[in-house]
Amino acid sequence: MSRPSPIVALYPGSFDPITRGHEDIVRRGLRVADRLVVAVARVATQSKKALFTVDERVALIQDVFRGDDRIEVMAFEGLLVDFARARGAHLVIRGLRAVSDFEYELQMAQMNQELWPGIETIFLVPEVQNSFISSSLVREVAALGGDVSSFVSPSVLEGLHLKLER
Ligand code: PNS
Repeated sequence: MSRPSPIVALYPGSFDPITRGHEDIVRRGLRVADRLVVAVARVATQSKKALFTVDERVALIQDVFRGDDRIEVMAFEGLLVDFARARGAHLVIRGLRAVSDFEYELQMAQMNQELWPGIETIFLVPEVQNSFISSSLVREVAALGGDVSSFVSPSVLEGLHLKLER
């Protein structure tokens, strides 16, 4: 397979909301790609009850990475591989926090490979202090009044407070 240049990577997910763990993966992704598209899924494979709308999630992510023109944030619907093809992206980046993530990630990577052989998935590992952070735990802890300020950016924290009306 010929190698595209510059390398455009997709970092897809639900990002409800973006956490310090996701930010870590974006930074690492930019070590292997020249440009990175953070792709916010309108429909996720493991659907969960959403706190933020997709447009709110996109706005929060744009806020976090404002000023870095290597990063683009977009919502997508339909198959990830169709979106990747349309964007000229041959690389998908996903974070792996623990062994428990692996089975789901492997299945998705292999399904995507089957759907479009032009796609490659690479897994990046967050720093240890970010590896327990997940959007679902951030939502839960914030909803129960816990302090999540070290798990999300200040603008996301403000978004959480506004959403939870505190
Ligand atoms: O953050 P998440 O919820 O684990 O992200 C999952 C996501 C959005 C990457 C996955 O559900 C996805 O790619 N959805 C798009 C629809 C699609 O292509 N489904 C087949 C994937 S194998």
